[in-house]
Amino acid sequence: MEKAKYTVTAALPYANGPLHLGHVAGVYLPADIFVRFLRMKGHDVVYICGSDEHGAAITLRAKKEGITPQEIVDKYHTIIRDAFKDFDISFDIFHRTSSELHHQTAQDFFKVLDSKGSFTKATSEQFFDEEYQQFLADRYVTGTCPNCKSPNAYGDQCESCGSSLNPTDLIDPISTLSGKTPVMKSTSHWYLPMERHEDWLRAWIKEGKLDGVQQHDPKEWRNQVVGQCMSWIDNGLRPRAMTRDLDWGVKVPYEDATGKVLYVWLDAPIGYISATKQWALDHNKNWEEYWTGDRKLVHFIGKDNIVFHAIIFPILLKEHGGLVLPDNVPAYEFLNLEGDKFSTSRNWAVWLHEYIARHPDKSDELKYVLTSIAPENKDSEFTWKEYQTRVNSELADILGNFVNRALVLTQKYYDGKVPARGELTSEDQSVLNEIAEIPNRIEKLIYQYKLREAQAEAMNLARLGNKFLADTEPWKLIKTDPQRVETIMNIALQVTANLGIVLQPFLPATARKISSFLGLDKNEWSDAGNPDLLNVGEQTSAPTILFKKIEDELVNEEIERLESTKMENTSNVAPQKDETSFDDFMKMDIRLGKIIAAQKVEKADKLLQLTVDTGIDQRTIISGIAEHYAPEEIVGKTVSVLVNLAPRKIRGVESQGMILMAENQEGKLSFIVPEKEGFDPGSEIR
Ligand code: 2FM
Ligand code: ZN
Repeated sequence: MEKAKYTVTAALPYANGPLHLGHVAGVYLPADIFVRFLRMKGHDVVYICGSDEHGAAITLRAKKEGITPQEIVDKYHTIIRDAFKDFDISFDIFHRTSSELHHQTAQDFFKVLDSKGSFTKATSEQFFDEEYQQFLADRYVTGTCPNCKSPNAYGDQCESCGSSLNPTDLIDPISTLSGKTPVMKSTSHWYLPMERHEDWLRAWIKEGKLDGVQQHDPKEWRNQVVGQCMSWIDNGLRPRAMTRDLDWGVKVPYEDATGKVLYVWLDAPIGYISATKQWALDHNKNWEEYWTGDRKLVHFIGKDNIVFHAIIFPILLKEHGGLVLPDNVPAYEFLNLEGDKFSTSRNWAVWLHEYIARHPDKSDELKYVLTSIAPENKDSEFTWKEYQTRVNSELADILGNFVNRALVLTQKYYDGKVPARGELTSEDQSVLNEIAEIPNRIEKLIYQYKLREAQAEAMNLARLGNKFLADTEPWKLIKTDPQRVETIMNIALQVTANLGIVLQPFLPATARKISSFLGLDKNEWSDAGNPDLLNVGEQTSAPTILFKKIEDELVNEEIERLESTKMENTSNVAPQKDETSFDDFMKMDIRLGKIIAAQKVEKADKLLQLTVDTGIDQRTIISGIAEHYAPEEIVGKTVSVLVNLAPRKIRGVESQGMILMAENQEGKLSFIVPEKEGFDPGSEIR
């Protein structure tokens, strides 16, 4: 039978920040293991990735860092690409969605769908920020989640409860641009009428059938993927806007659509196709072969991407026509870090590029630990303590120790030459049987996307070898039964040689080292399972240490580094001032006042001249808020005023009091206002 052909994708990371271990454990490393294995099996496979450079994730980050979106994506594309390379993730291409080829591909795709009537066009009222003159889609609006009441939900999703939202679902919406309540304004967009697709999606996801033809085995899909999709479909699919009013993104390819770009979740998955095109151009191939016919398309993603890859992108692919639909969408749950969620904004993370810089020779150690704890079916946790334990007691004490013993004893007893096997005991026989069986078990697990168990199975071979040497004690027998030792050492070396193959998908650098000690260069999966990989008399060399033990010092340093970020996070808040007395506090007369007039102070960017009704009188106050409030928007507002502050002349005008403001960590200012109605000017604050 012809071997299945694969196109494997790993979710395109947003180029809005570096990668952390959560991303690696739940997408890129498992995809890499899977692909390395497929290559060894001789499948025709291409492994696609690149950076996702559009959407609010990018523009908001640019605003935060005070640079342009282009500068943001250039910066993080480079950091991410280099980190993947240094960590030896074996993409065939790492492309980017800001490329010309991608824009062209996404626009062509859009036009094909539009010409087929796959979209509807509709005008609706959407949130609009008047200060910034911008519509507020997705992450541009935050507010309270209607489902779980979490206060920081985004317009497209609540990260607390995971529910998918529309901006207008939010309670008390606030623009993330100006911090103000947005207004409604009408705009027209292209929508994907997802409700048209419910029936075939149901059959395809539940039974793996498309137009009655079996496509994939639905039992091979993870429960959480099927579950999330079915719950979406059962709740009823709704039209979803496929365009946005933004100036950063892939332009809607029509002349009368200026100011409109494709929705990032329309353009990003098309990025898999454009990346394939670029790779095909670079290698003189035909990209279509990788997206049509008898191909298994596999998307490795995190669980927050499920609906986009298992519902929306399949609808787009099917509507386009002629392209394959995913064969599987192995989605990962989340990895936590030392008892807390990874968080880019709070800097609670171990960044991949920083790990590599600090521990340049420990990529396989990290790969091993991350695969051991990969969040395949439920959330899991990375701790430095567990990293240390797994490296020391599994990699060093079992794998490293075994390989070292086998090779060192061979040097010592036989000048490094492989000895012959004699008569076999039942123990010998069972080790040889396992050599033959373990690759089959690993293979089966990998095809089922159970990479965690697959790696454990590969380690079982090392465990078995280690136990075999510990039980047979050749170092004691060498004096009394040297012939028996030859058999033992032959078997130990065959185990070692097999480890050099079965570890390749998981620990590529280590596997290369092991093979090089043995002078072997085998990298086909079918080479594994052979108890005679090494010929008698073959020369082996003295090994180097595979894994150094992780000292407590490293663990403590890494934990301290994390703890210090926690400190930095809290120290952004200004420290508490020196104690004051109650009497001193009571000397201050603070009241509610109403702004009845406001104007700019000439030649002073920061100052507004206000007329305030304090309940006592109407007076003039100069306030440094001009960069935060426009004069016309604050007239009529009730604010807090320190009324008995000694008058001061500012720019020639006497200021008779001070407007009290709250200042956040970014230096933004906000009035302090009464929370209830019925509080008139003159009300005292204490
Ligand atoms: O969630 C994310 O990080 C997205 N950038 C993933 C995109 S995957 C694909 F569709 F491009
Ligand atoms: Zn919620």
